[in-house]
Amino acid sequence: MGQATDEVMQQYERYVMNTYVRQPLVITKAKGSRVWDVEGHEYLDLFPGWGVGGLGYNHPWVTAALRGQAGRVLHVSNNYYHPLQWRAAKRLITASFDGTVFFTNSGAEAVETAVKLSRRWGGGRHEIIVMERSFHGRTMAALSATGQSKHQEGFEPLLAGFVRVPFNDLAAAQAAVTPKTVAVLVEPIQGEGGVRVADDEFLTGLRRLCDERRLLLIMDEIQTGMGRTGTWFAYQRSGAEPDLLLVAKMLGGGFPIGAVVAKRALAGVLSPGTHATTYGGSPLGCACVLAAFEAIEKQRLLERVNTLSPILFERLRALKERVPAIREVRGRGFMAGIELAASGKPIVEACRAKRLLINCTQETVLRLLPALTITRAQLDRGLGVLEETLVESSR
Ligand SMILES: Cc1ncc(COP(=O)(O)O)c(C=O)c1O
Repeated sequence: MGQATDEVMQQYERYVMNTYVRQPLVITKAKGSRVWDVEGHEYLDLFPGWGVGGLGYNHPWVTAALRGQAGRVLHVSNNYYHPLQWRAAKRLITASFDGTVFFTNSGAEAVETAVKLSRRWGGGRHEIIVMERSFHGRTMAALSATGQSKHQEGFEPLLAGFVRVPFNDLAAAQAAVTPKTVAVLVEPIQGEGGVRVADDEFLTGLRRLCDERRLLLIMDEIQTGMGRTGTWFAYQRSGAEPDLLLVAKMLGGGFPIGAVVAKRALAGVLSPGTHATTYGGSPLGCACVLAAFEAIEKQRLLERVNTLSPILFERLRALKERVPAIREVRGRGFMAGIELAASGKPIVEACRAKRLLINCTQETVLRLLPALTITRAQLDRGLGVLEETLVESSR
């Protein structure tokens, strides 16, 4: 670690609230799947921007859209109109289902919006069934919805009305419905929870349950959406369509923006004055959303994921045969989890020393969320380093 890195870390210690577990890496430049630190070293990033960098860093179409819009108008309050918000909303709807969109600034804020919309729709019903090991964000409603007590400790009392059931257990979800239940909230693939994939039958079963008991099905696709798993949204593979779809991370191609897509029948639930956010759906954010959609479509990034994903998983599964410490390989598309028998932290650190960036969640699950734009050569190189590191660690 060089002096320039040390200096930045010292200033953080003094001036920045210490709420994140940070790695000793100061990033000053990035492009595609590559980043450079303040000392000029180049790294390959298989986890760009914690899921935000689905188009890689600084996609040229996104940065051009941002620059172009910055020359016209940065911010317009939501009590006026601007021409990009409806276009971004329409684009989201074209990729999902017919309805209307509320734009937010983050994933957690999309979760908050879904909770408020559900309660208002429910006419007195307020309970939401959520999944064990789920993750929905850090604001109070999103935190209360999250199925991991470790994130909630010390912040009680939580918002009431979230009923936790085991993931992939339809019978438990059915048994949890009461006259007060208004919705079911689920991630099609749990990201922070350790890359755990919902069974198609679980999702279609939840859809049926929601129809039978008049509940809203809310899918949190903040980590899985925008092509990450090889379809625009992960639910599309299962055939179970949600009533509310939550999107963020990749949505703005690196610009902070989230969204709730609500089925058309729910369009009037949050009427004027009932919900708002000052920055939601800003011209800058919407310009980036449109550029991100254009890039995914015109650069055929879904096809790219579907071509490269089998290679990724084939290599990870072959690696499992060679490294006894690998318990399981899970995921879909460009979302991969490698569950280890021991802590993944030393592997993350060893990879970083070899200039490869990966993530570890739930202590033991190595996680890869590569950019959809990653080249075959970069993917091969990254997997090579990961393989070498895991094999060395098992000696
Ligand atoms: C599935 C899911 N939901 C919600 C969130 C919260 O999003 P944000 O950090 O933008 O509030 C995350 C963030 O990791 C997530 O993965």
